[in-house]
Amino acid sequence: MDSFTVTVNGQPREVQGARPHTTLLNWLRDGGLTGCKEGCAEGECGACAVLVSRPDGRGGTRLESVNACLVMLPAMNGQEVITAEGLGTPNHLHPVQHEMAVRGGSQCGYCTPGFVVSMAAEYYRPERREGEHHAPNGFDIHSLSGNLCRCTGYRPIQDAAHALGTPPESDTIAMLRTRPAPAPQALHLSGPDGDFHRPADLPEALDLLAEHPDATLLAGGTDWGVEVNIRHARAGVTIAVDALDELRELEWHDDHVRIGAGLNLSEIERRLDGRIPLMAEWFPQFASRLIRNSATLGGNLGTASPIGDSPPTLLALDASLILASRGGERDVPLSEFFKGYRQTELRDGELIRAVRIPLPLAPVTGFYKYAKRRFDDISSVAVGIAMELDGNMVGRIRIGLGGVAATPIRALKAEAALIGQPWTERTVREAARLMGQEGTPLSDHRASAEYRAAMLEQALLKFFYEKTEVVGG
Ligand SMILES: Cc1cc2nc3c(=O)[nH]c(=O)nc-3n(C[C@H](O)[C@H](O)[C@H](O)COP(=O)(O)OP(=O)(O)OC[C@H]3O[C@@H](n4cnc5c(N)ncnc54)[C@H](O)[C@@H]3O)c2cc1C
Ligand code: FES
Ligand code: FES
Repeated sequence: MDSFTVTVNGQPREVQGARPHTTLLNWLRDGGLTGCKEGCAEGECGACAVLVSRPDGRGGTRLESVNACLVMLPAMNGQEVITAEGLGTPNHLHPVQHEMAVRGGSQCGYCTPGFVVSMAAEYYRPERREGEHHAPNGFDIHSLSGNLCRCTGYRPIQDAAHALGTPPESDTIAMLRTRPAPAPQALHLSGPDGDFHRPADLPEALDLLAEHPDATLLAGGTDWGVEVNIRHARAGVTIAVDALDELRELEWHDDHVRIGAGLNLSEIERRLDGRIPLMAEWFPQFASRLIRNSATLGGNLGTASPIGDSPPTLLALDASLILASRGGERDVPLSEFFKGYRQTELRDGELIRAVRIPLPLAPVTGFYKYAKRRFDDISSVAVGIAMELDGNMVGRIRIGLGGVAATPIRALKAEAALIGQPWTERTVREAARLMGQEGTPLSDHRASAEYRAAMLEQALLKFFYEKTEVVGG
C-alpha cells in the first residue's frame, strides 16, 4: 500500500507515495496549512502544535495537543488532526483565538497558532473544573509549558487562558468528543527511503522484529523525531508499536501494577490518578504537556539515555521490565537492564512490553530533578527515592540516580549506609556524603561533575527535611 488517508479539519486528505521520515508538520505545511510553524523541529517551542483525536477510554474522543514536527506522517494513517485553521476563521474566531486577540496575546504571531492549539486542548479537556490549578476557570497553565513566545511576554497569554469559559453545547469541536476516536489502522509502506510498518497486533510486530532485528521501533517519536530532523537519521525499517493493544495495558494485581510500554505519559498519569505518588511527583517535571502526550515509557527506557527520567523513578520503585520476543516473554529487573552507555539487555527481536512495579509501594517517596530550567528541560541529575520506616529505623530504601554515570544506577553505598539504621539527621548526613560519591559524574554543557555530586547529596538531605519528620541525633 502506498497511500492512506488523514482527516484534517474534518476533511479526509489522501496521502500518496508517503515516505517514512516525512513529518506531519511538513506535510501539513506543504498542503497549505501554514498556521503550524517550524520553530525548532525538536519539540522545544510548540510552534508546530496540532490537536489529534485519541480514544478517551470510555468510547469517546480526547483532543490532545502534540508536536507535529516529531510525528512521522505514516503513523497518522487513518487518524484525525485539527490545526489552528480548523478552530475558527477570521470572521468567526474560536473563543481561544478571540481571547488571545483581545488581550494582546500575540505580537509577531509566529508562536500564536501553537499557543492557540495547546490552549484549545486545555479548553476541551473534560476534567477541567472551576477552581482547579489555582485558576477560577480551572485552566492548567502548565498545559502551555511546551510553547515558547519570544515577543509577547506570557502575562497576556495567561490572561487569555484564564478568561476562557466552558465550550457551549453548540460547539462542533466539543461534540467530536462524544463519538469514538478513529481506530489505529495497520499499514505497510515500502519505498526507496525505507519501509514503514504499523502492525495489527503484537505477534505481527514480533514477527517483523525477528525478520528485521535492526528495525527502529517508533512509539511517541519524541526521541526518534529529533534524530530524524536534527541529526538526519534514517531507518531502513520502522515498526510503529505505540498503538498495539498489548502494549497499552494498565492493570492492578495483588502484588504488582503493570504499565504498558506503549502508553504515553499523560495517559499513565491520568489512569494512575496519583495512586503511585512517586510517579505523580515525577510526571509534571518531565518535558511539557505536548511531549508527555506522546512520549512513552518504552521509548524512555529503550533509548537507555543516562539522563532519562523514568529510570531513577522506576529503580526506586524496584520495577522490572517484561521483554517480549517471538520466543516468549521474560522479566528483567530494571537494575539489570542497562548494560553500558545506551546499551541494554534487549536481545535481537525483543521489545519492552510492559513495566512491572511491585506492591505494596514504599510509603515515603520523593523525586528530585536538577535542570537548567524548572520545567521543560532534560535533567542534569535526577534522583528517585522510595523508603519504608520501621518505627524510626530504615526498613527498606531504594534510590535511583540519573545523570551521574554511563547508565542510570542505584545509590548502593547510600542505601547500605541507611538500611537498618535510625532515620536521624546524623545517619542521613553520612549517607548523603556517600551519595555524593556515587557514580562517575562528568562535566558537560549541562553541569559540572562537582555540581552533579553536590546535587546528589542535596537530594537526600532535601528528602529527609521535606518528606519526614526531622529527628535529632
Ligand atoms: C523537548 C523534549 C523534552 C524532553 N524532556 C525529557 C525529560 O524531561 N525527561 C526525559 O527523560 N526525557 C525527555 N525527553 C526525551 C523523550 O521525550 C523521552 O525519552 C521519551 O520517553 C521517548 O519516548 P517516545 O515514545 O517518544 O520514544 P520514540 O522516539 O518513539 O522511540 C525512541 C526509541 O526508543 C526505543 N523504543 C521505543 N519503544 C520501545 C519499546 N516498546 N521497546 C524497546 N524499545 C523501544 C526505540 O529504539 C526508539 O527508536 C524530551 C524530548 C524532547 C524532544
Ligand atoms: S517546531 Fe518547535 S516544537 Fe515543533
Ligand atoms: S508573538 Fe512573536 S513569538 Fe510569540
